[in-house]
Amino acid sequence: MKRRKFIILTSGALIALPACSNRKEKVAQAAAKPRVAAPRPVKVPANTLYRPPAYANQGLRNPNMNLPSTFSGRTVTHSRGPSTQPYVAMTFDDGPHPQNTPRLLDMLRKRNIKATFYVIGGNVDRYPQIVRRIVSEGHEIGNHTYTHRKLTSLGASEVSKEMRRTQDAIVRAAGVRPRTMRPPYGALRTDQRNAVFSQFGYPTIMWSVDPQDWKRPGPSVVTNRILKAANNGAIILAHDLHAPTVTAMPGTFDGLLSRGFKFITVSQMLAQKGQA
Ligand code: NI
Repeated sequence: MKRRKFIILTSGALIALPACSNRKEKVAQAAAKPRVAAPRPVKVPANTLYRPPAYANQGLRNPNMNLPSTFSGRTVTHSRGPSTQPYVAMTFDDGPHPQNTPRLLDMLRKRNIKATFYVIGGNVDRYPQIVRRIVSEGHEIGNHTYTHRKLTSLGASEVSKEMRRTQDAIVRAAGVRPRTMRPPYGALRTDQRNAVFSQFGYPTIMWSVDPQDWKRPGPSVVTNRILKAANNGAIILAHDLHAPTVTAMPGTFDGLLSRGFKFITVSQMLAQKGQA
């Protein structure tokens, strides 16, 4: 029985492949155009039907969140979702990392949690197989620039290049196109946010909960800060670059699940928000 289930899941993943290559061609065509006049909803063939194998499902589990992930609208910056539902979005920046990210993916898979990864393009080119795994397990990929420089000190063409190179790397690695971006250090001027939005269709995604995990305060502190600050619609910032952050995640995930929160991706959060 278990064995049969696994085969169905595997074939489900394979069925998604033609859509990926189709998208790749469309993205390649879009990339040839210098500017996109208006942001349009982008359909991304992430494997949203992915479910963790039943044998790994012991303990707390996020419910299947079959929510739309296509959003539209003119709002350029988002730092949280609506407060009307107990949804939270976990975001992980600066990966993929060869050890930490797979360890985190195991934790997410065990709990049926889908997260959003703001990846650095250089790391995508270094570890494309991890990006493929992220997408195949139903998570969302966001653009976090190619070199992780402070964008406020760059000119418009350099900012575009950072976005383009990263988008191209993600498409090459996993056949999906990111739908949102997060600026390194949260640093991006309003005019730059507008330019990125009009050129790439990316809203700028900030956060509402910041455990300051990059300062490495220790896993239990990271967990406690997130559990204390999380509320409906929270977008939670964390970094899978740091091993102690990943170590903090089982307690964080289970703490949030036991408090009744449900995990969704950033695009699902924006779709819930509708046009603000
Ligand atoms: Ni970063």
